[in-house]
Amino acid sequence: MQDLSWWKHAVVYQIYPRSFQDSNDDGIGDLNGICNRLDYLVELGIDAIWISPIYPSPMADFGYDVADYCGIDPIFGTMEDFDRLLEEVHRRRLRLILDFVPNHTSDQHPWFVESRTSRENPKRDWYVWRDQPNNWQSHFGGSAWEFDKETAQYYLHEFLKEQPDLNWRNPAVKSAMFEALRFWLRKGVDGFRVDVMWLMIKDDQFRDNPPNPGYALGQGSRAQFLPVYDADRPEIHALVAEMRGVLEEFGDRVLIGEIYLPVPRLMDYYGQHLGGANLPFNFQLLQCAWTADELARTISGYMAALPDGAWPNWVLGNHDKSRIASRIGLLKARAAAILLLSLPGTLTIYNGEELGMQDVPIRPEEVQDPAEKRQPGIGMGRDPERTPMPWDSSPPGGFTSGIPWLPIGDVNLAVNVQSSKEEPDSMLSLYRRLLRLRREETALVWGRLTDVSSTNDVLQFLRSGTDERFVFVMNLAEERRQVVIGSGKIVASTSLRREGESVSGAIGLEPAEALIVKVGL
Ligand code: GLC
Repeated sequence: MQDLSWWKHAVVYQIYPRSFQDSNDDGIGDLNGICNRLDYLVELGIDAIWISPIYPSPMADFGYDVADYCGIDPIFGTMEDFDRLLEEVHRRRLRLILDFVPNHTSDQHPWFVESRTSRENPKRDWYVWRDQPNNWQSHFGGSAWEFDKETAQYYLHEFLKEQPDLNWRNPAVKSAMFEALRFWLRKGVDGFRVDVMWLMIKDDQFRDNPPNPGYALGQGSRAQFLPVYDADRPEIHALVAEMRGVLEEFGDRVLIGEIYLPVPRLMDYYGQHLGGANLPFNFQLLQCAWTADELARTISGYMAALPDGAWPNWVLGNHDKSRIASRIGLLKARAAAILLLSLPGTLTIYNGEELGMQDVPIRPEEVQDPAEKRQPGIGMGRDPERTPMPWDSSPPGGFTSGIPWLPIGDVNLAVNVQSSKEEPDSMLSLYRRLLRLRREETALVWGRLTDVSSTNDVLQFLRSGTDERFVFVMNLAEERRQVVIGSGKIVASTSLRREGESVSGAIGLEPAEALIVKVGL
């Protein structure tokens, strides 16, 4: 363990800053709010926090439209607040990872304001301007091209028209953006989660995407075409390697890439000689069906595909996807927590997952997310998983004294931090025990993962360190199952009363029960 980089044995905790803790009663979370809750995170037992964007932004996409890469939006606080937060994070021996949004800026960014003034402007080529659009579609629906009357050309926006895409083929863009990275690295930030890394470079001939034969009505407009020419282009890997080089200038920092691609293509983002992203985000558990067969296939498929020496990572949820407790149900989400904490590599927990937070139903008049506003009613909205953290049982959940920007939701008030802390069998208590176990039993982090199997809806695998072995089992059948795993002691369980139990021979598992058993060598 000692020789592992800090991020290899880290559990990262994603904070969606608007929804974590408000400190000035405007109903929106902020940096001082995060600072006030750091001790909660220490008690939870995580190692690093990743904060979704906090830069100045018109908030068309809630911070993923950046107007200044080296500032702090007043909604979140000031640069002094940030510096204090970083200091407090480090004082507690935690790490701080920022979100970096390189694919696009806000249309209010001074670079774009200049770029759109004339075709001759020196910043013109910092963005992607064309006389004619092609068939590329925005991730938020509709054409990815916007006609700009002033200069009679179209600009590219893979997301909102308020988020014009940067032209990363222009060396000036590259060096300006790398300087922004250095600005934060110099302050001591421990790494970056890079937004939509696989989209940064597009086809230089702007070829049309081919039609998607699997397209069905009711899917977003982007699904009409296969993303052959506006995503995952071969040139991306040299660029990611250069970005990694910038982080390397500062020593042991981490580069995490947000990448939604099939596993073989995802693996390319580790780069030649592992010189790419340290961690191309592994979203397999966000996307696969929650059956023992599918999980066994997913886990062994991912592990087998890892390039030599590449470090695995796992994610159950984020601010763009329905919460795990809503996707698979609360009971199975407890088992999912044990599964996550049993897997090798770096783990990421999305804020609220540790409480068992669920998606909150959002009434049409409460909708905030542009993805829902642009393509309503087809499940594109991300507000349900972005609702505020419930810290106590009061109506605004201790999140704010003002009016929360999204509803707290009764379903989540019921699992608030205060009452969950007192309840030994709560999801929060389970997460705390699991995180403690992972710290004590480091073989769970770096030990070998073998013997992945699925039998009669029971998922099972083995983790082996130098001197320890752990068996993970999870029953996904609707009824009780028996498994034989040899003799040992239960060190983690979905039902608290089983922890510490000695087992040998056949053991029974209730539906949605999961266990980690430390077995003899
Ligand atoms: C990423 C972010 C998402 C955002 C999009 C555009 O997918 O996670 O929230 O809307 O990029 O920046």
